[in-house]
Amino acid sequence: MADFDELKGKEIVAQADIAFERSCHHHICMMNGIDAQHLKTIHHLDIKMDLSLHRSELGTQIDFTMRGQFPKTTFREKLGQRFLGSTYQYSMRYAHGCIGLLTMMKDVRLFPSLFMIYAYTPIAPGRTIIQPIYVTEKRQGIVGYLLSQFLLFCTRLAYYMLRDEDGKIYDNIRFNPNLLLSIDQPLAEYMKYVNQLKPSRWSKNRGVE
Ligand SMILES: [Fe+2]
Repeated sequence: MADFDELKGKEIVAQADIAFERSCHHHICMMNGIDAQHLKTIHHLDIKMDLSLHRSELGTQIDFTMRGQFPKTTFREKLGQRFLGSTYQYSMRYAHGCIGLLTMMKDVRLFPSLFMIYAYTPIAPGRTIIQPIYVTEKRQGIVGYLLSQFLLFCTRLAYYMLRDEDGKIYDNIRFNPNLLLSIDQPLAEYMKYVNQLKPSRWSKNRGVE
């Protein structure tokens, strides 16, 4: 079962958002989270990302940790640096080719990490339902409750900030796995991961679209 390392053994609070559809294969949808090129072209964040990888022993799970230095050119970058520090880091854990676990704000002073889950369901060739779920640690008392709710809200806001911009990609992408640049190394690693997965009992009737 996939989980967040930082939340292991802790009680959690989860909040499901409204699921929505993308006109895109679910594996392409999943790759957005580690697509270094689109950070600049779509999100206007000019960060050179270094990748570190960790694969689970059974091959069902893979962790991408992306780390980079904030440049100080655009307003968004300056804002990011002021609040988050000079390094930007996040990690994406993919499990079973259909779940993404995102940890944002990793190692940020004064702010705890934010967690969210993406569950992907292919409903037809080139059509995917994405279910976003916000997650945080369950905290004690009324102050703890309010803090947890606040963090869930922050996670939702961070996600909304990027989601609409990402929409431009999903509906227009023409993905060619043979035309990758060196910046696309995470995508190449993701494809390697997906291709070695064994179909589960549940994927039997769906086949490979
Ligand atoms: Fe994105």
